[in-house]
Amino acid sequence: MRRGGWSGKLAAVLKSLFSVAQIVNLLYRRLPIGRTLAELTGSGQGGILQDGILRLQQTGRLRYKPCRGAKQTRREAGTTMLDSILEQFPKEISLKDGFKAALRPLEPSDEKAFHDFFLAVPEQERMFIKHRVTEPETIRDWCQNIDLGRNLPLLAVVGDQIAGDATLHQQLGGWKRHIGRVSVLVHPQFRGRGLAKALVVEIIELARNIGLEKLEAEFIGEQETAITMFGLLGFGPLARLPAYVRDMKAVSHDYVLLGLGLETDEEYAGME
Ligand SMILES: CC(C)(COP(=O)(O)OP(=O)(O)OC[C@H]1O[C@@H](n2cnc3c(N)ncnc32)[C@H](O)[C@@H]1OP(=O)(O)O)[C@@H](O)C(=O)NCCC(=O)NCCS
Repeated sequence: MRRGGWSGKLAAVLKSLFSVAQIVNLLYRRLPIGRTLAELTGSGQGGILQDGILRLQQTGRLRYKPCRGAKQTRREAGTTMLDSILEQFPKEISLKDGFKAALRPLEPSDEKAFHDFFLAVPEQERMFIKHRVTEPETIRDWCQNIDLGRNLPLLAVVGDQIAGDATLHQQLGGWKRHIGRVSVLVHPQFRGRGLAKALVVEIIELARNIGLEKLEAEFIGEQETAITMFGLLGFGPLARLPAYVRDMKAVSHDYVLLGLGLETDEEYAGME
């Protein structure tokens, strides 16, 4: 990477005034398309830039690309990136028939609305949810102990009602630390308008931008609508285990695991 010239001087001035995270925030959405932050600040020095480069994509999103051999640090950088990425919320989306919703992460004040949301889900479907979501204590615990780096519930909010939730679950250590898991649930009143699709697309983009390499989603065999929907978004079958899991009434069901690779050669072309 070329050093010196106006970009080197700008880098020196910026670095003397701000931390790398602040620089990212300052330049977020203001870099010329196709330029990298490393080009402006000089790669190889300091924090995130030591281990990779940030690039503004045609979509207007920032994307982190690690240098070879820097995989471990990439996830750490992803955590730093999360704060920056979350600044784009709340975000308004428009779907079929002029339906609008605001997307934003769960907040402590959502406790009642989040509980109401789960109560609206038919009992038949609730049996496949892994937690006791009808119990107010469960939701209180989630709302009072928000850790978006571990579980990121992205809500679709209409007025003061929660219409949908797609959650990105991450393991911060261990052998699945590069794999995120996504789950989605849409309020029965708001189904069939593309809300689940929009939420999952948002989670895919978010997961990619924080440096996750794969996403997976778990289902029971009967959740055919959801399996179809994830298939449309590019998820492929990883496993189907007959009669492997049991619902809250101890009835056995097939376990289905779908997965999506987040690194595409296309996006990385020309970035070595
Ligand atoms: C599955 C679920 C999330 C879909 O929510 P939704 O907001 O209605 O879904 P969308 O409107 O975004 O539909 C996305 C796609 O799924 C398919 N789909 C949606 N509803 C469908 C239905 N009733 N029958 C068949 N296909 C359907 C369609 O292909 C649709 O795409 P299209 O509208 O472009 O044709 C919702 O039904 C739900 O919450 N189910 C219970 C929880 C669950 O199964 N979660 C998945 C486990 S992670």
